[in-house]
Amino acid sequence: MRPCRIVVEGVCVDLGAAPVLRQVDLTLEPGQLTALLGPSGAGKTTLLKVLAGLEQPRAGRVRAGEVSWSDAGVGRFVAARARGVGLVFQSYALWPHLSAFENVAFPLRVRRVPEAELRARVAAAFELVRLPREVQAREPATLSGGEQQRVSLARALVYEPGLLLCDEPLANLDAPGREALRADMRRLQRSTGVTVLYVTHDQAEALAMADRLAVMDAGRIVEAGDPRALYERARSPIVARFLGARNELRGVRRGGLVELEGGVALESPLDGGPRDGSAVVALLRPDELELLGPGEARAGWAGVVASVEFAGERVRLCLEGAVRLCVDVPADRAPAPGARVVAAARPGRARVYPA
Ligand SMILES: Nc1ncnc2c1ncn2[C@@H]1O[C@H](COP(=O)(O)OP(=O)(O)OP(=O)(O)O)[C@@H](O)[C@H]1O
Ligand SMILES: [Mg+2]
Repeated sequence: MRPCRIVVEGVCVDLGAAPVLRQVDLTLEPGQLTALLGPSGAGKTTLLKVLAGLEQPRAGRVRAGEVSWSDAGVGRFVAARARGVGLVFQSYALWPHLSAFENVAFPLRVRRVPEAELRARVAAAFELVRLPREVQAREPATLSGGEQQRVSLARALVYEPGLLLCDEPLANLDAPGREALRADMRRLQRSTGVTVLYVTHDQAEALAMADRLAVMDAGRIVEAGDPRALYERARSPIVARFLGARNELRGVRRGGLVELEGGVALESPLDGGPRDGSAVVALLRPDELELLGPGEARAGWAGVVASVEFAGERVRLCLEGAVRLCVDVPADRAPAPGARVVAAARPGRARVYPA
């Protein structure tokens, strides 16, 4: 299958008595990696199953290029096997009694690929995921988690699918293993040109890998687009919160200002939007706040440092005062617990939404 545009339109899935996907719309551009981010229970795995052909929607359509994969309106549903989609799960889902080689060869054996061609393609898949030759003869239980995940990736890629679906593939690996496989996945995604939908609830992973980012909550795609644009200027407070904006300040819009709790007014980044006097909420990530020096005349929130959380070069302060705030500061300039400080929003960084 050649990579093509995948379009999901108005897809609804009920599981048990509950709606799990509610009118999901999402487009995957050919050759791009789209990260699907969202809290536990949002419906990410269910959407992935809809694309794989493992879950049949109650309503809506899925198209792959010119081909209809599913259309509830006319009762059309193409089975998983006929879609030729690659799948990689969090749990490696390898056959325990087959060698790594036979695990990777399996999709080709099912398709009755001649032996010589099969051997060449399996060898190429092992090379693609950077697994040494000697691993091929071993059974999965004798491989590390990272090696097993590389085998399952090789199995997903061996028949050159146009679409690769990954469901938290790195979640069970340690930090160095995750970083190495993440870089390799990105490299082979670019070199093979495969279209990827990559499910994760790790925002750093999503931002590091994605060409496009889609954020899902409660069975809906809340926002989809350029990762940096979503990170800096999410249109929805749900997305801003999920991308790390944990400081939340209530306020009121007055003229060109928003007057926030704790007695701080900021210039309003809103044009149009809520009318004068209407309630708003401002969201800020910890790195979008800073501590004011003694002579600085800007408005800020006074507070006492309640805790200092070490995180390498930077530390995260928890401030308690009229409002509670989290502020990231360079480790070498971190005040001690109990110190009195004033925190202010970095100019232009607050996101302001109607409350
Ligand atoms: N077979 C099922 N029967 C009933 N409810 C189900 C079934 N499978 C999933 N659900 C429910 O559907 C919702 C979405 O599940 P899904 O597995 O798609 O979430 P997710 O976003 O992948 O979450 P996680 O990040 O925890 O993997 C959850 O509330 C879940 O309990
Ligand atoms: Mg899931």
